[in-house]
Amino acid sequence: MKIAVAGAGFVGIVHAAVMANQGHKVILFDVDNKKIDNLSAYCRNETNTLPIYEEGLEELFRRNSREGRLFFTVDAKSAIRDSEVIFIAVGTPFDDKEGKANVSYVEDIAKTIGEVLQVHPSYKLVVDKSTVPIGTAERVKEIIKKYYLGEFDVASNPETLAEGSAVKDALYPNRVIIGVDSPRAEKILREIYSPFFFPHQSGRIHVMGLRDAELSKYAFNTYLAAQVHITNVLANISHEAGANWRAIIPAVLGDERIGRFVHPGLGFGGSCFRKDVSALKRTAEDLGLDECTVQSLNIILEQNEDQKKKLNKKIISLFGEDLSKCTIAIWGLAFKKDTNDVRDAASLIIVKDVLERGAKVRAHDPQAGEEFLKELQRKGVDLSNFSLINDMYEAVNNSDILCITNDWKVYRQPDFDILRNKLKNKIIFDGKDVLNYLQMKEEDFNYFSIGRPDIIQ
Ligand SMILES: NC(=O)c1ccc[n+]([C@@H]2O[C@H](COP(=O)([O-])OP(=O)(O)OC[C@H]3O[C@@H](n4cnc5c(N)ncnc54)[C@H](O)[C@@H]3O)[C@@H](O)[C@H]2O)c1
Repeated sequence: MKIAVAGAGFVGIVHAAVMANQGHKVILFDVDNKKIDNLSAYCRNETNTLPIYEEGLEELFRRNSREGRLFFTVDAKSAIRDSEVIFIAVGTPFDDKEGKANVSYVEDIAKTIGEVLQVHPSYKLVVDKSTVPIGTAERVKEIIKKYYLGEFDVASNPETLAEGSAVKDALYPNRVIIGVDSPRAEKILREIYSPFFFPHQSGRIHVMGLRDAELSKYAFNTYLAAQVHITNVLANISHEAGANWRAIIPAVLGDERIGRFVHPGLGFGGSCFRKDVSALKRTAEDLGLDECTVQSLNIILEQNEDQKKKLNKKIISLFGEDLSKCTIAIWGLAFKKDTNDVRDAASLIIVKDVLERGAKVRAHDPQAGEEFLKELQRKGVDLSNFSLINDMYEAVNNSDILCITNDWKVYRQPDFDILRNKLKNKIIFDGKDVLNYLQMKEEDFNYFSIGRPDIIQ
């Protein structure tokens, strides 16, 4: 395949070399003359240094250039004209003045592609490899369309390599992210990336929508940054408290749940998380740790309380502040599936709030009903409008909205025909990601969940 790579920076250089190594004919272009001269001189053995150092890169570079698969130029237009696939790997630095990522270099490339296509119409696949804000692929498409209305696709393929192991990461990726909105784009990118995996590893090519792929890159980095952050907060406390953080690390790594809590919901509940993070925050305060450290623990607690209120905010946006004409079905009272523990469950906040606004509540949980009732009584909540119902479908009878607040298995594949008959307004709020989103697109319900676009029928 003929491939152009825009931007001879850290990502572009490695990507171009690795693509050439796969047998593609690759032309790497950059606006920086010096860089291109330097790369060319290096491949002619006239200098000994590449603009970046990465183990294994020098050999990869020289060999693929010598064997006629890797070229360099400052002539963007000819590089684009002669290629079917154009990877954009230019910088997207954060502009502190503007307070946002600077995507002007990406837009420059899009404009050049548009101009080339206007004169030399042919199908091109334009692939954003740079880390870009959500919606950039759509913006790139818009820019190209100003010049060319023929066939082309834009895809998102965020880079997942890390500096220091870039060549190894790119030659043997543990996953590839492909964001597309056309089968043709998906086919081409699968063709490019499939050879990097054995057939049994095909699941490592993650195909998703354009916006999903764009966000995925920020998700990886934010998870990692958050982990660095929380590690340092804990290590600071350890230091002041006379504990040895090093001794704790293997035990932390032994907890297989850490790093795997990726399913969104209505916040954490149960007997431990709030209590323990609160206690640790108090320890940090007592030890005189800085405000930032204390606040970073506090924010975990505060965001969690806000998260628990998401469902109530949605109910109010749909039915108004006064819920006296509203009947609300709740599936799930325990703080999570497979337990009858209701301590700190989101359902407590949700049910108390809607009862206080005059709603009738019809609630079901396979195990936690009695405990839930006791807890509401203990909180002094007026229960005259609250019914605990043994049959999950009966709980939905004549309700305006069904709210799923935990993830018991029985809620995963409900009988939609029964729900259709019983649920007055056909509105479902899924606070625990339990229903299949694709299936919900087929069903005639209004469906609200966390982390996915609303489905309004
Ligand atoms: N460096 C990393 O570890 C890493 C990892 C993953 C993703 N990313 C992302 O990849 C992108 C590139 O990162 P980088 O570190 O390689 O950037 P970089 O700053 O090292 O290189 C960017 C290159 O793009 C060139 N460029 C700018 N405008 C151009 C144009 N119109 N035409 C051709 N070339 C142009 C610049 O001259 C420069 O050589 C960024 O979005 C970055 O966030 C970086």
